[in-house]
Amino acid sequence: MNLKIAVLAGDGIGPEIMKQGVAVLDTVGEKFGHQFTYTPAVCGAHAIDEVGDPFPEATFKTCMDADAVLFAAVGDPRFDNDPTIKVRPENGLLAMRKQLGLYANVRPVATFDCLLHNSPLKDEIIKGADFVVIRELTGGMYFGKKYQGKDMAYDTDIYSRPEIERILKVGFEFALKRHQHLTVVDKANVLASSRLWREVAMEMAKKYPKVKTDYMFIDNASMRVLTEPRFFDVIVTENTFGDILTDETSSITGSMGLQPSASLGEHTPLFEPVHGSWPQAAGKNIANPVAEILSAAMLLEHFGLKDEGALIRKAVNASLEAKVRTPEIQVAGGKKYGTTDVGSWIVDYIRTAK
Ligand code: IPM
Ligand code: MN
Repeated sequence: MNLKIAVLAGDGIGPEIMKQGVAVLDTVGEKFGHQFTYTPAVCGAHAIDEVGDPFPEATFKTCMDADAVLFAAVGDPRFDNDPTIKVRPENGLLAMRKQLGLYANVRPVATFDCLLHNSPLKDEIIKGADFVVIRELTGGMYFGKKYQGKDMAYDTDIYSRPEIERILKVGFEFALKRHQHLTVVDKANVLASSRLWREVAMEMAKKYPKVKTDYMFIDNASMRVLTEPRFFDVIVTENTFGDILTDETSSITGSMGLQPSASLGEHTPLFEPVHGSWPQAAGKNIANPVAEILSAAMLLEHFGLKDEGALIRKAVNASLEAKVRTPEIQVAGGKKYGTTDVGSWIVDYIRTAK
């Protein structure tokens, strides 16, 4: 298979983990006889520095011309604490999601047996947890009308029926392919937008009789994902709730550095880690490349390359079992491995796998 991949490494640890993601793709390509070509493009803080725009038109074109986008992370503390700054690296990420029509963000949450101890949660609670959070990605407060005055500010949590229907459809279809259980997470006891979500979901549920659909308030869901994560199969929720919930659920896996995601919608699909740019770690060779590598696996699986994706997952699992791990998940007294060591180990595993 030929795949044209736009490579957006972004800021902070982005370039370091991206290097490992691309190395893994190259190795898989060689092994299975695929042709992957990469077109790098700028985004985030360094795009602001270079061209004054965190998601320049040229980068948009590169993404539109590609079959898939492999993304790393954007963000830079230079932009964080100055409220007068108008253009931030994060605006680039949001513009990219919006312009590519990427309304469905798929964030799988699964434990690795050998990392159960790395979670602050009890082993017996998280063992076997395996669910997917489908986060709406181009609506809600992130994109609703905003105003910031001197003494007053607001963001509007706005959703139209078609926006709700298309994301719920993704949720129902995922549930059908998995264990036929969908949990719609909202705040329908307080928010009008949530009440519309729930109304639409209840109508749609009738068309999916095979799916057991339940409804949960976000506050309750935030607790249940930690106290009873095995309850969940597929969660579907709006943008802001999904953002918060998936940082929380990374504590089940043991590290944010292990969580990949896929963003799907109207145009080129995009694959990116759930974590951010971790600027404090940039250049130190300590960032975990696994979320990026697993995002590459999701990319291949999206194009039907199941064996290829499975081999990457097997290699990642083997590296974790062999305790070839970056510092944030290494066992006490365990050997120190950097970003490049973990990446190379996984590459070698794939290259030499029978
Ligand atoms: C994420 C990130 C982004 C978001 C930020 C960087 C704008 O936290 O992808 O979860 O809030 O969507
Ligand atoms: Mn987030």
